[in-house]
Amino acid sequence: MMKALQKEKELNELKSRFVAMTTHEFKTPLATISSSADIIEMYAERSLNADTENIIKQVKNINIEVLRMTNMMDTSLFLGKIEANKTEVSKEEIDLVSLVQYIIDRQVRHQKDKRKLYFELRGTVKKVFADAQHLEHILDNLISNAFKFSQNKPSPALILTFNENNFTVDIIDYGLGIPQNQHKKVYSSFFRGDNVRNIKGTGLGLLIVYNLVKMNGGKITFESEENQGTTFTLEFPY
Ligand SMILES: Nc1ncnc2c1ncn2[C@@H]1O[C@H](COP(=O)(O)OP(=O)(O)OP(=O)(O)O)[C@@H](O)[C@H]1O
Ligand SMILES: [Mg+2]
Repeated sequence: MMKALQKEKELNELKSRFVAMTTHEFKTPLATISSSADIIEMYAERSLNADTENIIKQVKNINIEVLRMTNMMDTSLFLGKIEANKTEVSKEEIDLVSLVQYIIDRQVRHQKDKRKLYFELRGTVKKVFADAQHLEHILDNLISNAFKFSQNKPSPALILTFNENNFTVDIIDYGLGIPQNQHKKVYSSFFRGDNVRNIKGTGLGLLIVYNLVKMNGGKITFESEENQGTTFTLEFPY
């Protein structure tokens, strides 16, 4: 057993080094592609050619896709770090209500369809010690999922509840839902429900959330019904 454990540790280290290496190797050319695209755009804007507009449009597409790939690389790198136990939890007293409000505002600003998020606070505010960065990451993904998978449906909602011994956050949406037969797989890498069609994503977000929640001593659960909606619930000690 000791041998097997040692082997697994080595494999994990190898994996995390591999992820770090490939990520870096991909990010460098991406940065070059992006700056070349910027230069082409600059030249195109200067010249008075009938094709200029098309060139600029194509260059913008290059930059959008470069950004998407860079984000994906960052996600893989972050996951690699978590899985190699190279991420530390640093808890301090935080103003949870303001943090949640701030994250919501930022997410809402990003929504092209101009939907809002309904925010409700329950219970009496208590002192919270938490890793603000991790909480931000967790809420960001859950809120963005709630918006992303409920297009053309009513706005999502977030309920923050201060209980006796813990606080909970419910993120509720009225969207696609997760098909019942796939509930067991939601926290596996690259999982994407078979009902998401062309909605973009890597399927790594929830795995990262799951790991972060665990690392921070919390719990995550969800209820979801296809075409009705999904509620993710987080629970953390004070
Ligand atoms: N609120 C939700 N409503 C419906 N399906 C969801 C919801 N949240 C997650 N899912 C399903 O779980 C899958 C995994 O979610 P996850 O956040 O890990 O990936 P993603 O959002 O597709 O991509 P990423 O977060 O990496 O950009 C989603 O692709 C979707 O099928
Ligand atoms: Mg996601």
